Amino acid sequence: MSSTTLTNKNTAIQTDFLPLEGTDYVEFYVGNAKQAAHYYMSAFGFQALAYAGPETGIKDKASYAVRQHKLTFVLTTPLRSGNEIADHIYKHGDGVKSLSLRVNDAAKAWEETTHRGAKSYMEPVRLKDNDGEVVMSGIHTYGDTIHLFIERKNYKGAFLPGYRAWNNPYYKPADTGLLYVDHCVGNVNWNQMNPWVKFYEEVMGFRNILSFDDKDISTEYSALMSKVMSNGNGFVKFPINEPAEGKKKSQVEEYLEFYNGEGCQHVAMATNDIVHTVTELRNRGVEFLRVPNTYYDDLLDRVGHIDEDLEPLKELGILVDRDDEGYLLQLFSKPVEDRPTLFFEIIQRKGAKSFGKGNFKALFEAIEREQAERGNL
Ligand code: FE2
Repeated sequence: MSSTTLTNKNTAIQTDFLPLEGTDYVEFYVGNAKQAAHYYMSAFGFQALAYAGPETGIKDKASYAVRQHKLTFVLTTPLRSGNEIADHIYKHGDGVKSLSLRVNDAAKAWEETTHRGAKSYMEPVRLKDNDGEVVMSGIHTYGDTIHLFIERKNYKGAFLPGYRAWNNPYYKPADTGLLYVDHCVGNVNWNQMNPWVKFYEEVMGFRNILSFDDKDISTEYSALMSKVMSNGNGFVKFPINEPAEGKKKSQVEEYLEFYNGEGCQHVAMATNDIVHTVTELRNRGVEFLRVPNTYYDDLLDRVGHIDEDLEPLKELGILVDRDDEGYLLQLFSKPVEDRPTLFFEIIQRKGAKSFGKGNFKALFEAIEREQAERGNL
């Protein structure tokens, strides 16, 4: 019945030519970084970390780095028109520019990937200040999105050279329990999923660990296909979605239309206590998708025993799914900007390494209700 395929290509022991230590930070290009940083602090519980701008010798942009546990977001805005950042915002609205990856050797990461066909975004550069040295390089991926490779083993500063520590005496929001980036999903154009799967395989040495076709992920109207790409140690996972034919407009098509091209659809952030995290986020104004209460009627029949009480899950609208290795709890925010583009996922894994396939139908019906309200279905 199921057309999901679990591919296990552990062919021989190969040397990982692009060893990744995880996500270093996610950088967003936004219309107003000062206010966006405040949103991520007040609503999501990030702490002020570092600032770069005219006061630190950066003349053309301002960047605010915020952090919660191992999650680091950078909000960047241009100070003038007519440059790459301003053009990015004009075209896409607020969105993810860089999924930056921590490496031990940024020069080698750039050489290995560009040698295999990646388009260079930034040749390796050494950034120095009194706290040491960071080597940074970068390549293009789908749309206008990039991967920066960050080598910071010889750096002791707050964030990166060019930044100064940002102590915000006014506001220190309480933690919400968000821990690290679990995965980042890209939306690509029709028939572009497989070329990007090939890119992550050939250029970055990733493996396709899960595939979903339109039979898995379709509702009456909305359909998509997805393949999950993972690096060798599993620290970095990039599902890639493309739209599929349905009766009406796929959620991926809506994204592509409003983002004006391919880009990052959602960033999934891990927590060890999703009830606490989502309670905190909701109390601070983060809006989440809602499935109908009937979702919970037969939930335990579908997923078996879970450690959590059902009532708080139901009250918060948290979704549950099980795979061979365990279960997971997850919830999706509404888009965090006015364009129906980027959103966030909150995920707590209890053994499961999958992505919540059992929730796709209920979830996509919830997304479709939102699309219909926007007049985009
Ligand atoms: Fe996800």
